[in-house]
Amino acid sequence: MDHFLYRGGILHAEDVAIPDIAAVVGTPFYVYSAATLTRHYRLFTEALSPLPHLVCFAIKSLSNVAVLKLLGDLGAGMDVVSGGEYLRARAAGVPGDRIVFSGVGKTRAEMRLALEGGIRQFNIESEPEMRALSEVAAAMGVTAPVTVRVNPDVDAKTHAKIATGKSENKFGIPIARASEVYAEIARLPGLRAVGIDVHIGSQLTDLAPFEAAFTKLRETTLALRAEGHDIRRLDLGGGLGIPYTRGNEAPPLPTDYGAMIHRVLGDLDCEIEIEPGRLISGNAGLLVAGVIYVKNGEGRDFLILDAAMNDLVRPAMYEAHHDIVPVIEGAPGGPTQPFDVVGPVCETGDTFARARELPLLAEGDLVAFRSAGAYGAVMASEYNTRPLVPEVLVQGDHFAVIRARPTFDEILGRDTIPEWL
Ligand code: LLP
Repeated sequence: MDHFLYRGGILHAEDVAIPDIAAVVGTPFYVYSAATLTRHYRLFTEALSPLPHLVCFAIKSLSNVAVLKLLGDLGAGMDVVSGGEYLRARAAGVPGDRIVFSGVGKTRAEMRLALEGGIRQFNIESEPEMRALSEVAAAMGVTAPVTVRVNPDVDAKTHAKIATGKSENKFGIPIARASEVYAEIARLPGLRAVGIDVHIGSQLTDLAPFEAAFTKLRETTLALRAEGHDIRRLDLGGGLGIPYTRGNEAPPLPTDYGAMIHRVLGDLDCEIEIEPGRLISGNAGLLVAGVIYVKNGEGRDFLILDAAMNDLVRPAMYEAHHDIVPVIEGAPGGPTQPFDVVGPVCETGDTFARARELPLLAEGDLVAFRSAGAYGAVMASEYNTRPLVPEVLVQGDHFAVIRARPTFDEILGRDTIPEWL
């Protein structure tokens, strides 16, 4: 459920009419609902109670500092994958002991940054990384809390570009080698193993791959404990999918996911950590765009929007479907027609949808892409020197621009012409 509903035929974000935001901000823009973000975060905390747990929001899905502050103030932890994301979490006021650091390529500088600022744990993904962290921590005279991300060789049954739990993927250490790796951690200076970590992929619409991975994690945890390692935290990663098509899909709910976690891992006396991104942010955001032209092509009509692949890359990159809806609702049963929905970027791949049945839209009308809160703004670029799309946060009847559209002076000002040219 989200808080983007029609009222009097006009799409609203909570109590704010989308055209009112467009009038102030211009299009395209992203808009997020604070109530939806809050609701989705709470669904997870309720699903995991009464087990001790921490819901660490995967910042990579939506990293605006205002959104992080909203979630952080509710008690959320954060899952970061770069020094930049670490700094965002801290700028949002999230204490280091609620931040977990994931990612296959953490640099020594990033390790130092997190050790100086405070960190709950590093999720280690390889032996070279583990040895580098040992050196960095020992040189600083501190001990780094770590988990090892194990690769359970489970097929997540999702899009190949976002599956991470098979042995051929670059992620984690083969689960069969866990014993060896934890033994080395115990010998290395500057490291303390506090738990174990797994993340098998994103947009999973079935609980079975999760259950297979968590069952393997359980067995490995028991084996590691028998070898004397005090495994007290289970980081289960993110990945729970969301419905992208209204009415047709019913991915498992956080309550089902939580119940399965209780059943498989509840007796291990561990703190459960999860790293959801998409389920918290995905359906909490829209991308709103304006129609520039309606172009009658050969046997098809193109709806040319002022948003493009640089603003929302998911359709071009993953063939992802996003529902597209008119901001002013067409009359029920009113006329519709198929449109190829495209942006102005000079690539055929700049296509959001083909033959999408929509009401008869015209120049100047507004449309909204649903489910655009996750992996939308964060993956935007300035390709074709199109200003980075702004972000707006709505709470109740008020809204604020939480990232302004850059001016062309700002964009051009970042380039420098060397004096020898
Ligand atoms: N934890 C780790 C270690 C991850 O790599 C990811 C996502 C998450 C948590 C959060 O997963 P989520 O709950 O959001 O599924 N850009 C792609 C998705 C890439 C996901 C990368 N890792 C897309 O637009 O579909």
